[in-house]
Amino acid sequence: MFEEGTRLGMKSAKVKRTFAENYRVTTVEIDHAMEEANPGQFIMVWMPGIGEKPMSIGNRYPLTISVANVGKVSEAIGKLKAGEMISFRGPLGKPFAVEKSFRRILVIGGGYGVVPMYFLAKSARENGLEIVSVIGGKTGKDIIYEKQLFAVCREVYVTTDDGTRGKKGTVMSEAETLISSKGFDCVYCCGPERMMQAIALFCEMHSIPCQVSVERYMKCGVGVCGSCDIGGKTCCKDGPVFSGEDALKLADFGKAHHDASGKRTV
Ligand SMILES: Cc1cc2nc3c(=O)[nH]c(=O)nc-3n(C[C@H](O)[C@H](O)[C@H](O)COP(=O)(O)OP(=O)(O)OC[C@H]3O[C@@H](n4cnc5c(N)ncnc54)[C@H](O)[C@@H]3O)c2cc1C
Ligand code: FES
Repeated sequence: MFEEGTRLGMKSAKVKRTFAENYRVTTVEIDHAMEEANPGQFIMVWMPGIGEKPMSIGNRYPLTISVANVGKVSEAIGKLKAGEMISFRGPLGKPFAVEKSFRRILVIGGGYGVVPMYFLAKSARENGLEIVSVIGGKTGKDIIYEKQLFAVCREVYVTTDDGTRGKKGTVMSEAETLISSKGFDCVYCCGPERMMQAIALFCEMHSIPCQVSVERYMKCGVGVCGSCDIGGKTCCKDGPVFSGEDALKLADFGKAHHDASGKRTV
């Protein structure tokens, strides 16, 4: 959408440090303080000659992202070395809302969805809230940010599909028990969309406020191109965070995506 050199709001900074979270996810710490960033927001990371992709913010300083190697841009980001430059725009999108009256929250993350949940848990802890978290993955090797969450949460529950780490099953099994206890002011969630749909529905049944962070194919990141449409709302500007109630009203939530060409797949 933008030509090289004309990208509005593009910043560049040095990579401070990189390290592997697991066999597929690399964390990149950038020597930049994004003081204005709030949990749930993202940056558009530009790899010249390859492409530009949204990445959730995991920390303000050093500005941190954790990237799963699944394609061209993510592979290139994962190969960056300390001292190299990285370009990005942001923070973008709507963050998670944490009401002043909240005392105890539940954060749920699946896969790299744990990244914004850690940023949320850390910020909430700094503001005196009590946090319980549930994180899940396919196998024990897919679990990331467990130690970081232990440092800021009162309790951390881990689930894996094959039982190689924590409780065998999906995050839903732990989440349902915790949500049913009715001890939370709000439930926050980021991960596979069908999981978020199930959590949002369960929270609705139990009359507990819920917020989810939705992922769609993005190009501009600022509400202009329409490629991140999710049933009439833009994921980049109206989201990526939606209340569970609003997300459940979106025609495409948990059902359909648009690909890079704009084609809708169900
Ligand atoms: C708000 C937001 C926040 C995001 N935060 C993160 C983040 O913190 N970390 C992160 O790693 N990614 C994150 N993503 C996803 C990221 O923006 C890219 O979509 C992803 O890195 C793939 O881009 P690529 O160019 O590497 O792959 P592409 O070349 O676009 O895709 C290559 C192939 O991989 C498939 N693919 C794309 N995504 C996935 C996936 N997640 N798992 C398996 N296959 C996939 C595609 O369908 C395609 O077939 C976020 C997306 C959004 C919208
Ligand atoms: S990515 Fe262009 S409108 Fe959202």
